[in-house]
Amino acid sequence: MFLCVIFTQIGLFSRNKNLYWAQVLNCLLPTTYASAQMETAVIPGLSRSNEGRKADEPCTIVIFGASGDLTVRKLIPALFHLYKDGQMPEPFRVVGFARRDKTDASWREEMKAGIERFSRSPEVDSAQWEAFSKNLFYHRGDLTDAEAYASLRTRLADFDNEQLANNLIFYLAISPSLFGDVVDHLHEVKLLHRWEEGDQFWQRVVVEKPFGHDLQSARELNARLVKHARERQILRIDHYLGKETVQNIMMFRFSNAIFEQLWHREAIEHVQITVSEDIGVGSRGGYFEEAGTMRDMMQNHLLQILSLVAMEPPPSLAAEDIRNEKVKVLKSIRPMTPEAVAQQVVRGQYFAGTVNGENRTGYRQEEKVNPESNVETYAALKLFIDNWRWSGVPFYLRTGKNLPLRASEVRVQFRPTPSVLFAAQGNLDLDRNALTLRLQPDEGISLRFNGKVPGTTIATRPVRMHFGYDAEFGAYTPEAYERLLLEAMAGDATLFIRRDEVETAWQFIDAIRAGWGDEVLSNREFYAAGTWGPEAAEDLLAQDGHVWHNPQPAK
Ligand code: BG6
Repeated sequence: MFLCVIFTQIGLFSRNKNLYWAQVLNCLLPTTYASAQMETAVIPGLSRSNEGRKADEPCTIVIFGASGDLTVRKLIPALFHLYKDGQMPEPFRVVGFARRDKTDASWREEMKAGIERFSRSPEVDSAQWEAFSKNLFYHRGDLTDAEAYASLRTRLADFDNEQLANNLIFYLAISPSLFGDVVDHLHEVKLLHRWEEGDQFWQRVVVEKPFGHDLQSARELNARLVKHARERQILRIDHYLGKETVQNIMMFRFSNAIFEQLWHREAIEHVQITVSEDIGVGSRGGYFEEAGTMRDMMQNHLLQILSLVAMEPPPSLAAEDIRNEKVKVLKSIRPMTPEAVAQQVVRGQYFAGTVNGENRTGYRQEEKVNPESNVETYAALKLFIDNWRWSGVPFYLRTGKNLPLRASEVRVQFRPTPSVLFAAQGNLDLDRNALTLRLQPDEGISLRFNGKVPGTTIATRPVRMHFGYDAEFGAYTPEAYERLLLEAMAGDATLFIRRDEVETAWQFIDAIRAGWGDEVLSNREFYAAGTWGPEAAEDLLAQDGHVWHNPQPAK
């Protein structure tokens, strides 16, 4: 009650019709109180409600890589969900393009089995499936064969609807080495046009990660794509941006006065971003040997989270305004010199251990992995953002495979209070305030502060106010791909990575990789599967007098 009064007095419940996400803060308060105060206005393009956005222009989604894992596990289940929620345009078509010999009917069957196996709601209602699946078509073709694109064009024309034949999304769920070739071919057969003012139809190219493997390759790929499509037609995927809670970082910050007031170097001591995974590399050893965690996770997902946590308020919610602010953060990261890499970056590699009681092999024993590999399955680093807001505040980022649990968290640790008042009480050790944004799973936000232990002594104990998405909004866990596909159809680029963002991120990562050179891993860089990473990562924080705060299992 005491907290309600304070929050109310500082204007938490002011009635601003545009600030839908003010309810998030309300949820830090007891549910009954919060519910009574909810606002339900929706920010255009950023609604989390199902009614918020509908892709209404008829279009065809052509998926290159239709036999691949991503299509069956993520893309088709996501499209089916959108269909069930009434979010797909009317009419629409999905064309799967791949080399294997299949018919429309056999591909549909495969996709149905995929939904039953991988979807977040695996029961398939047969009437709904019937209605949805008659929009799925399979087109057999080799990605390197010009003829296959010409026949694709004929196939699209056969739909006998100008919009279905010309409003096109080309989804590249294929090997990155073929991105450029596919786009060239699409241009040659006149399926892909550079957009011009006044055009009646549109085409967009959705590009899966990895987008290049370093700055140079990313630049080359960008140069190749923009020959045939404008930047606004190219949608580079980072699926973390499709996650509800990742989007909420921005809403949370800019729709609530009380946190943004504290969101700077005067109040914040340091920030920790953890993305931990409880799986190893599995069957992806071959890919991982080429990538490593720095490229696979840090270059994209962690730097994206960082940019949302650290960005300035954009002048509007337009895609370019948001992306401008994000890229400014990346450009302000202090570049890594070889000396900084040695002091501020840690890599690690797992050896055999147990995760959740399950035995895991070491990375070097995984399929298609060099038994002497020095590739990192864990990375941690300290970086500084050299701008007015963040000068001198360390950001610690870490991510790894085969850690004890799957969780992504941002922990903002505030500066200590001056201890003068409590000094007389001897060893009264005051905990520092911290705000934790839990991005997955068990999504929510917690604020940690000190409360007096009841009784005659002046003892304090850290206590927690918690907002959980599930408890407040009910189970609403759309897959990131649902949101991203919807935005691709609607033509909103906010949740996709812009050219300069991807290049700036590579520049930072390249400097780290150059700093590592050919150096082999040291003993302090190995960790047993099922532990929180190598000792060297503990040292990284210990040298600044901090410790990692490990995410806790979902309750
Ligand atoms: C992918 C990486 O981009 O993200 C994988 O290539 C990783 O290695 C995955 O496992 C993690 O995504 P999520 O959504 O499970 O956190």
